[in-house]
Amino acid sequence: MSLPDFSVAADRSGSLSVKWNRDAIKSICNNPDAIPYWVADMDFPAPIAVTEALREQAAHGVLGYPYGSSVVETFTDWALRRHRWKVDPTMVVTAPGMLAAISILVELYSEEGDGILLPMPAYRPFVHIIRSLGRKVVQWPMSYDAERNRFGLDVQSLQALLSGSHIPILLFCSPHNPSGRVFSDQELTEVASLSSRFGTMVISDEIHADLTYEENGHTPFNEIARKFDLQSATCMAPSKTFNIAGEHCSVVVCSDATVRNRLAMRMRALHLAPDLLASVTASAAYRHGETWLGQLRNHLCSQAHAITSQLAQSGTPLRFVTPQASFIGLIDCTAIMEKVTSDAERNAALYDPSSSGDGGLLSRFFGQRGNIAVNDGSWFGADYGHFVRFNFGTSARAVQEGITAMIDAVRSLR
Ligand SMILES: Cc1ncc(COP(=O)(O)O)c(C=O)c1O
Repeated sequence: MSLPDFSVAADRSGSLSVKWNRDAIKSICNNPDAIPYWVADMDFPAPIAVTEALREQAAHGVLGYPYGSSVVETFTDWALRRHRWKVDPTMVVTAPGMLAAISILVELYSEEGDGILLPMPAYRPFVHIIRSLGRKVVQWPMSYDAERNRFGLDVQSLQALLSGSHIPILLFCSPHNPSGRVFSDQELTEVASLSSRFGTMVISDEIHADLTYEENGHTPFNEIARKFDLQSATCMAPSKTFNIAGEHCSVVVCSDATVRNRLAMRMRALHLAPDLLASVTASAAYRHGETWLGQLRNHLCSQAHAITSQLAQSGTPLRFVTPQASFIGLIDCTAIMEKVTSDAERNAALYDPSSSGDGGLLSRFFGQRGNIAVNDGSWFGADYGHFVRFNFGTSARAVQEGITAMIDAVRSLR
């Protein structure tokens, strides 16, 4: 079997990639030619076994309704191998993507007008789900250690928030996007204990769970929740893991039969299920992707450390919030905000928000002055506009070039 080569980034032009689409890039930084380091997918082909499985299915020529997909079986085998997690297959519901499943769970387990607790900074579609379903975001700000550039969970404020009015759902994200934190068992236990005490159900988005680095394991929330008899839904997917996010297939591991039945019934009512190719892709990835993933995790871990050193040695005040998992990480830009603000005042046209409405001051700055497209921190919450999120799911060379361009942009500031 040929080995994956993570030193080469794929040419994704003309492949319907949002990350590489010029209009989409412009929408965050006002520069359609900026090199993309934003949207959370990687510039690597999926494992060969996955593309072969797809080719085989396509070669058959008939793409009719599927029946008897092996997603649940391959996922439960995977969970055991990758996380030493014994999942009861009868508690698993499949879904056409994480966000679809999370939206349905939010609808099922809360009422219009209810507050949904959300750790901040937060992956923006969570906010969109909560608001578009007529619920309210109750922000639970994470702590931030500016010396160590590290986010953490503030358990005291969680307790304070939960002991106010009843909050039916905590929408958790573990490992956390965008901070890259892999939470310890102790942190997870505190979250579960408080949620159980105040009768709050936990939906745990664990889409990045398979991508923890060598030294970090991952504890599925479901494993902790069961000790507290806490109602929970642990959502996982092969999409980030194997870079197959365009083929929507995910799983929800429910804490009990009541959650499982309600979710499964609602999915049926809405006629929502992963489609044929998404199921083929997911099963092949879970079945054959382990070696590929091991090498990817090593690559990502070494890139995370390389970025940390490159920024620390750059002579600029940019600092990496070194993630403990996955291929995205925040860069703390606090110390350049004043200069960037004055650059924007002097060059208003470059920073025009009307043509880059999904961006912010910093994403426009790096787009204009560094030719680099990164997500602005404000996308993850109004209080995080002094960060950007950098996607390093590409070759070492492209990562180094991107970070160098950002450093040069900062050096050019007057
Ligand atoms: C934390 C998190 N949840 C969900 C998603 C999207 O999941 P899906 O495309 O399966 O709906 C992403 C994608 O970046 C993510 O980072």
